[in-house]
Amino acid sequence: LVAFLQPKLLAGRKVLITAGPTFEAIDPVRGITNLSSGKMGFAVARAAREAGAEVTLVCGPVSQPTPRGVTRIDVTGALDMHREVMARAAAQDVFVGVAAVADYRPQAAAEHKIKKDDGAPPAIMLVENPDILAEVAALPKPPLCVGFAAESRNLADYARKKRAKKKIPLIAGNLIEHGFGGEDNTLVLFDDAGQTPLPPGPKSELARALVAHIARLLRGD
Ligand code: CTP
Ligand code: CA
Repeated sequence: LVAFLQPKLLAGRKVLITAGPTFEAIDPVRGITNLSSGKMGFAVARAAREAGAEVTLVCGPVSQPTPRGVTRIDVTGALDMHREVMARAAAQDVFVGVAAVADYRPQAAAEHKIKKDDGAPPAIMLVENPDILAEVAALPKPPLCVGFAAESRNLADYARKKRAKKKIPLIAGNLIEHGFGGEDNTLVLFDDAGQTPLPPGPKSELARALVAHIARLLRGD
């Protein structure tokens, strides 16, 4: 019922969202990943869909049900996520990067399981992953780009710096104080107008408030 009552703030708009962690393989049974349940990204996808948008959700390994009416693309590593996003980004009105993308990946995954009896602990050479959000924002005609910043301290300072560095109009910041995988969150929005704290609450409600904020930026008011 709530879905029906939402104003169609994004009717006719195309919205691309990343969600969840990425998983960077070390060998066939091991990898490097980030903590992320995918709940916030899925909530944003659901809210955008309920606001009338055509929504594509590119997500790393999560166990979340696909929101009704949303096109879902499952990926594993940051390079897969990067490829699927860049193939679609130019055709979008909005891009929201909610994914906790691993900053680094092992240079090459071992073909076979690494065995303990091979000797000393193995060194894992890491290489940097592409910054998906910054690359989308640098497109010739970028969609309206929205980032997320989960920080353990100095939220406003780090969030503002990230917004400037990635050249994006809006970033949603949260302090990692609730842990991961919970239903509730606290978000502060940073944009040209300054700082807007959203009332703490369920991720579904925060997602609706974020979608309303995005719709206002799209309209230019
Ligand atoms: N992001 C991305 N691709 C990456 C890294 C981050 O698209 N390779 C996006 C995230 O989805 C998020 C935003 O950038 O929307 C901020 O991610 P975060 O990890 O907080 O920023 P980093 O620039 O990686 O900085 P750091 O991890 O050092 O805090
Ligand atoms: Ca990072």
